[in-house]
Amino acid sequence: MEFTLSEEQLMIQQAARDFAETELLPEVIERDDAQRFPKEQVKKMGELGFLGMMVDTKYGGSGMDTLSYVLVMEELSKIDASASVIVSVNNSLVCWGLETYGTEEQKQKYLTRLASGEIIGAFCLSEPEAGSDATSQKTTALDKGDHYVLNGTKNWITNGGTAEVYLVIAQTHLDKGHKGINAFIVEKGMEGFEIGPKENKLGIRGSDTHSLMFNDVKVPKENRIGEDGFGFKFAMKTLAGGRIGIAAQALGIAAGAYELAKKYSKERKAFGTEIKNHQAIAFKLADMHTKIAAARHLVYKAAWDKDNDNNYDLSGAMAKLYASEVAMETAVEAVQVHGGNGFVKDYHVERLMRDAKITQIYEGTSEIQKIVISRSILRD
Ligand code: CAA
Ligand code: FAD
Repeated sequence: MEFTLSEEQLMIQQAARDFAETELLPEVIERDDAQRFPKEQVKKMGELGFLGMMVDTKYGGSGMDTLSYVLVMEELSKIDASASVIVSVNNSLVCWGLETYGTEEQKQKYLTRLASGEIIGAFCLSEPEAGSDATSQKTTALDKGDHYVLNGTKNWITNGGTAEVYLVIAQTHLDKGHKGINAFIVEKGMEGFEIGPKENKLGIRGSDTHSLMFNDVKVPKENRIGEDGFGFKFAMKTLAGGRIGIAAQALGIAAGAYELAKKYSKERKAFGTEIKNHQAIAFKLADMHTKIAAARHLVYKAAWDKDNDNNYDLSGAMAKLYASEVAMETAVEAVQVHGGNGFVKDYHVERLMRDAKITQIYEGTSEIQKIVISRSILRD
């Protein structure tokens, strides 16, 4: 077993740390307050190669491994989970699927611009009546010869307003259940495609979440991804990797909250001593440190599985389940360590606590991860 990072991995980790501290930290509170998308920062992350990290360099990506991607996600998420979810969606849910299952034409037309960060993408599976129950797709894409006609509504779509390219899952064969689902590349501006208002959220408020409406949108046949009926498997395979990215986001939120709590415990005095000298506080830090280390092992192992062509459905689901629980627990405890200061915005931990919650919900709730895990371990 090898527990050390390579020179290249250490360099990319440091680059992400520097970027987060110099470019994300300065206005992170203001962006959260105003629900402002980090436009300039996303542009810079594109220049740094963070938006197409695992994509082959011949398609404009950085050609790095999943572990490097996880390291970047962790560092960005310590400071700004709104920025990191944009990175996660573009890398794991958009670029990965296009590179793995797209045609050469689709890669040239879309992937190159997505991977370089020239444009960003969105992944559209969830609907008002199909969240956890993702096979219950109501959006339809009917085959009309040289094109499909798309009708329906998607909701909760990250990058919903800012994306230029949307991977949309829809039902083509109404009588075939999940085997009749397809995935399509839809462009912003296609006739009949409307973007709903931005959601006013508890956390990750800098990210841009919208519902999307499709009203007789004509999608060319060449925009279907994979064979007819491959759409649900496409979504599941994409999400298996996506969950590693969100697990890394959760790990970063936990680590960020812990670092702030540790620092504060050395500064704040109560009863004539730094609060770190009260065992109740020291033990909280010990618990946080231990659980974060355990979460980190699970997250890195899932990334390692993906990089080594092992199945990562199980390790990715375990990493997401555990890291998101650790994120929530650590962030709540970090607020407690800060006392009253933890309850106000200037100290950052209240934002990390609000941001942590989403990691237990999106890309499959904790309950759904337990379904994935239990089915996997109980399968003969
Ligand atoms: N790889 C390949 N195929 C898979 C698969 C995987 N990981 N998981 C399931 N499948 C296949 C199954 O084999 C089955 O196909 P066959 O019948 O041909 O064998 C088919 O998919 C249907 O699978 P199930 O019978 O297991 O379906 P189910 O209805 O019981 O649901 C589920 C399975 C795991 C609960 C799934 O619906 C699910 O993952 N739900 C959660 C949805 C989700 O994660 N949404 C996230 C949206 S994106 C997002 O949230 C982004 C963001 O926040 C930033
Ligand atoms: P429901 O499925 O209605 O679940 C409600 C509750 O019931 C949950 O606690 C759930 O765990 C539980 N539950 C449901 N079924 C079961 C079961 N079988 N067993 C046990 N418990 C169960 N989706 C996208 O497609 N693309 C995106 O970019 C995207 N971004 C998002 C960003 C944000 C900020 C949010 C809030 C959501 C986003 N989503 C996105 C949607 C997200 O994936 C869903 O919200 C999530 O999958 C849960 O679906 P739901 O909200 O419909 O909840």
